[in-house]
Amino acid sequence: MKARLSTDSDLRAISRIHLDAFGPAEGPEIVDLVGDLLRDRTAEPSLSIVADSGGRLTGHVLFTAARLDSPGGSPAASILAPLGVLQAFQRQGVGGLLVHRGLQLLVERGVDLVFVLGHPSYYPRFGFQPAGPLGLEAPYPIAEKDAAAWMVKALGPGAIDRFGGSVRCAAALDRPEHWIE
Ligand SMILES: CC(C)(COP(=O)(O)OP(=O)(O)OC[C@H]1O[C@@H](n2cnc3c(N)ncnc32)[C@H](O)[C@@H]1OP(=O)(O)O)[C@@H](O)C(=O)NCCC(=O)NCCS
Repeated sequence: MKARLSTDSDLRAISRIHLDAFGPAEGPEIVDLVGDLLRDRTAEPSLSIVADSGGRLTGHVLFTAARLDSPGGSPAASILAPLGVLQAFQRQGVGGLLVHRGLQLLVERGVDLVFVLGHPSYYPRFGFQPAGPLGLEAPYPIAEKDAAAWMVKALGPGAIDRFGGSVRCAAALDRPEHWIE
């Protein structure tokens, strides 16, 4: 199993992954979101990575650009969404492989902060922590009960201390329905 950048010819397999991972209720909306984000210029620079097992794609993660105007300046920032792994391949390290590879590439690209709205029991293993208490607000208010799901990981030294304020996301993600955990 290797993690590699996706190509246009992977798009169908990527859609199948998210349909399967997120199921019939949520999957179609996630597939549309991925397509919209990949066409969205405001999402650039983006990073789309697939898990490839001998030509069979088993997982996909997408990172898209985020913006943050804070008194400390404007960090290079990214949002992780979505992440999906085929059900038959879950709990075998595929999600971890994709997230680790993505974070490694973002470090190489000089990204300071990475955000995610996701399972609060999954992302801390990669170093994510709740972003709200650090003064880093999501593009739309997150329900109090889900506050812990809005998380950040600092890649650049001291990035957490230097920056604060409201995160702005790519146009395709900039809809309230994408910010419900
Ligand atoms: C969440 C998901 C991406 C994890 O991928 P994965 O390849 O199964 O994860 P890994 O094998 O790298 O890691 C497995 C660990 O993640 C945990 N995990 C898996 N799904 C989880 C979830 N929904 N919430 C919390 N923890 C989860 C497992 O319990 C396991 O923990 P352990 O190592 O302590 O036993 C995958 O389950 C998935 O596609 N789920 C459906 C779509 C989804 O919810 N995407 C994420 C949106 S934030």
